[in-house]
Amino acid sequence: MKLHLNKIDHRYGDMAVLQGIDLEIPSGRIVCLVGPSGCGKSTLLRIIGGLERPTGGEVLQMGEPSSDCLNPLTYIFQDFALLPWRSVEGNISLVIEDHGIRGAQARAIIDDVLARTKLTDFAKALPKQLSGGMKQRVAIARALAVNPAVMLMDEPLSALDSQTRELLMDDLIALWTRTPFTAVYVTHNLAEAVRLGHSIVVLSRRPGRIREIVHLDKPLAERSFGDADLEAQQKHLWTLMRDEARAADAELLDA
Ligand SMILES: Nc1ncnc2c1ncn2[C@@H]1O[C@H](COP(=O)(O)OP(=O)(O)OP(=O)(O)O)[C@@H](O)[C@H]1O
Ligand SMILES: [Mg+2]
Repeated sequence: MKLHLNKIDHRYGDMAVLQGIDLEIPSGRIVCLVGPSGCGKSTLLRIIGGLERPTGGEVLQMGEPSSDCLNPLTYIFQDFALLPWRSVEGNISLVIEDHGIRGAQARAIIDDVLARTKLTDFAKALPKQLSGGMKQRVAIARALAVNPAVMLMDEPLSALDSQTRELLMDDLIALWTRTPFTAVYVTHNLAEAVRLGHSIVVLSRRPGRIREIVHLDKPLAERSFGDADLEAQQKHLWTLMRDEARAADAELLDA
């Protein structure tokens, strides 16, 4: 299944937040969304996930999700959103029990996602016993358990320190390389965008419009920390972001 965003506009009262967003989210690709603070990234993610109805335009789903998909559009949040009183596997089992899956079938799904996220040995641990990076791996495992057609990730690594972020990026790349997933990945971290994005959508200052889409051909598995090509792309993205942020500041002065 792929998504097509068709001329999305959004307003909150008098304030225009998004304007004319036309975008494809191809199957099996990670699309990163970057843009100045307050330009509407999280709003766009909520619109894609159906949590918010756009004031204009529409999100079209092209094709059907796979038959074992329990929840086509699944969120991963910055703050992990784990239930503290449930173990790692208890947090994962909850979302599949919600879909009526129990017993051996549930066990097989849980074992698979624990293995894929390297959490097998931590199945019985409680969230408070885990580091931030591991908590986010649990949240990723929980999302994978419903086999989503599209994962909606809102700054999933922002709450983590920079070393943990690097490790998690490697984990996400390994996960994608083994079984490609589709994701819309919001971040304000440009290093993250060039490591993980097959394409990077740069939004303008509010109202967020698409300023540029940068496509990166290098396979994810070949992208590493300090890669010169990626750094050049990151510099280009930074130039765009800096211009938008300066223009936004200038508009504040004029207002
Ligand atoms: N439910 C709401 N009601 C009214 N205004 C809102 C609502 N949600 C967001 N906004 C406003 O819409 C604008 C865009 O918000 P949004 O959270 O989408 O931006 P963002 O790009 O995700 O920002 P950040 O980089 O800080 O996460 C902001 O000015 C915000 O204050
Ligand atoms: Mg946001």
